[in-house]
Amino acid sequence: METALSEQQVTDLVAAANEARLHAYAPYSRFSVGAAVLGTNGEIYAGCNVENGSFGLTLCAERAAVAHAITHGCRDLRALAVVAETNNGPVTPCGACRQVLAEFNPMLTVICATETGRMSVLRLDELLPHHFDLGRR
Ligand code: THU
Repeated sequence: METALSEQQVTDLVAAANEARLHAYAPYSRFSVGAAVLGTNGEIYAGCNVENGSFGLTLCAERAAVAHAITHGCRDLRALAVVAETNNGPVTPCGACRQVLAEFNPMLTVICATETGRMSVLRLDELLPHHFDLGRR
């Protein structure tokens, strides 16, 4: 049974995502997104969206954060925060990012927040039930 994140951990994770958002490269959509993952090692790894003139090559903030964690040897992910500036409540990770997150922890805690601190806390299996699992073959 996993223990809940502390208030401090939530605050730190959202702050890291929000800070990463400021570095987003989003000249096409003008929609800056920041994300941060918390490893079971207690470390936080952040990322931002990186767009491309060939639109389909755009990298979402969530996948950038996961790549950051993996690059630093952290594969046990406990939680993710995603932050964007919106008027209608926080955004949730896109379908492709949900599948990438599920590779590392299908039960990941997912904190979706706005830059003003509106927040909803979900679990990845709610966002992506029945994720693809190659191990089932
Ligand atoms: N984006 C993310 O970074 N994360 C999401 O969860 C949804 C979308 C980015 C991709 C693109 O740069 C911009 O937001 C608009 O889709």
